[in-house]
Amino acid sequence: MSISDDKKHIWHPLTQHQLYPNHILIKKAKGTLLYDDNNKEYIDAISSWYTCMYGHCNPYITSKVAEQMNKLDHVVFTGFTHEPATKLAKELMSILPNNQAKLFFSDNGSTSVDIAIKMALQYHCNIGNKKNTLIAFEDGFHGDTFGAMSVSGLSIYNGPFKDHFLDVKRIPVPRESNLSEVEEKMRKIINDNEVAAFIYEPLVQGAAGMKMHEPKHLSTLLEIAKKNHIITIADEVMTGFGKTGRYFASEFMNELPDIICLSKSLTGGLVPMAITSCSQSIYNAFLSSEMEKGFFHGHTYSANPTSCTAAIASIELLKSNEIQNNIKRISQKHQEFIHRIKEHPKVKQARQQGIILALDFHNETDRYGKLRYRLFDFYMKEGVYLRPLGNTVYILAPYVISDKELLKIYSVIEKSFDLV
Ligand SMILES: Cc1ncc(COP(=O)(O)O)c(C=O)c1O
Repeated sequence: MSISDDKKHIWHPLTQHQLYPNHILIKKAKGTLLYDDNNKEYIDAISSWYTCMYGHCNPYITSKVAEQMNKLDHVVFTGFTHEPATKLAKELMSILPNNQAKLFFSDNGSTSVDIAIKMALQYHCNIGNKKNTLIAFEDGFHGDTFGAMSVSGLSIYNGPFKDHFLDVKRIPVPRESNLSEVEEKMRKIINDNEVAAFIYEPLVQGAAGMKMHEPKHLSTLLEIAKKNHIITIADEVMTGFGKTGRYFASEFMNELPDIICLSKSLTGGLVPMAITSCSQSIYNAFLSSEMEKGFFHGHTYSANPTSCTAAIASIELLKSNEIQNNIKRISQKHQEFIHRIKEHPKVKQARQQGIILALDFHNETDRYGKLRYRLFDFYMKEGVYLRPLGNTVYILAPYVISDKELLKIYSVIEKSFDLV
């Protein structure tokens, strides 16, 4: 493959090709490291968008998938089932919040969100409620398909499509300073509309710049939703599978969600897959002698056996003592780093939830402004793949990262203070 073929034929995601036509050619990856065509190493400090949490080309996951590939590659998942799916169901149920009962398979985070929204809307329709309004956070991000875009608040992604969205009312993320205001706004939306569901990224809003909020504040909103028979949808596409310090961020709240969206590190980054899980009572509303009350949504690659196998292996790793100890070790190191830099004059705010660390610089800048590219180029030159969002730099490194590699990431970030 040559880079000129890339330039000639490929349209990359989230890219303004006229301004940024060049892409770095990555030849291979192993553990925490990516290697370019000159064999230069980069520590993957964001786990390739939070997927490869057990390290790239993890030998346990790849060997299990290789075995499965020679047994059953793919089969239609309507009318058929298979062992990788049933085994995965059992494994996933052993770690999901205990009100979750059923799993619906798809391919990526955005589709898992669209499915969650469709489940919520059809749930109400099936039980005879006409409820169409959704509540979402102002700057949440839930993906790029139409349902997911409708509930996302980041306008750079959504602008040209906003006339075609579902009916969504937005509320700010709750904090100590605005909690009563947010509560009041939510209650008013519920009074004035037929609200079907409330969707949120629990505790950490990833694409918004790893913005964090407290469990007790989100719990307050979930309690309001539950009291008003509003379906709660936790988008754990980013936060799921150990990143917040527990298997799922939803475990920190008093109220459990009715529906959970999962993807990204579900399969350890090896192959794509997503799952939307739900409670028994959501599922029950689809059981009927009437065919059309069933959920007529399906993707060709639903529950692909190789993807299921990658997910089983990933969950086994997640539950292992080694990974659980690593999560504690990384969280502890992050705390020490935050303690060291939080008073630095260039740092506006530093925060952490589990193994997710973020810091904002004082500079106010656009999400894709010049500062972001200046920092990105510097980090890459230093051999660390970090992907700043505006004036925010975050670390979400694989669970297998060593202390030495973590120290290198911290030191490169500290050196970059001179650039802002
Ligand atoms: C919270 C959240 N939901 C949904 C998505 C969309 O996932 P995908 O890119 O797999 O469609 C993302 C992607 O970053 C995400 O962070």
